[in-house]
Amino acid sequence: MKQNCFVCLNVDCKIRGSEQLMNELTGKVTTHSLDVEVKSYTCFGGCDQGPNIVIHPQRVWYAGVKPEDLPEIVESLNGGPPVNRLDTIDPSLKEIIFSLLDTGLM
Ligand code: FES
Repeated sequence: MKQNCFVCLNVDCKIRGSEQLMNELTGKVTTHSLDVEVKSYTCFGGCDQGPNIVIHPQRVWYAGVKPEDLPEIVESLNGGPPVNRLDTIDPSLKEIIFSLLDTGLM
């Protein structure tokens, strides 16, 4: 199943480097020929814990992502284990965002 990888590019995540993360992630996904689309997102509401990356429809949220985390994230996108140490967002917020993404309304 195709995975959408949403990278928050709103102010708080952006000042922590999310734009660079998105560019690097896009490059790595292309290099590995993964069936993954990397897209920008306006804000997940977890601003103080960014940069935030949400993978849909797999319902995975990685918070506080650093460039050095990207190889493991790419591995997880390629069928590897989830990067559990980056799964730090409150479950109720995750549910709101995952449900919103499920509706397709973004
Ligand atoms: S600024 Fe990224 S989650 Fe709000």
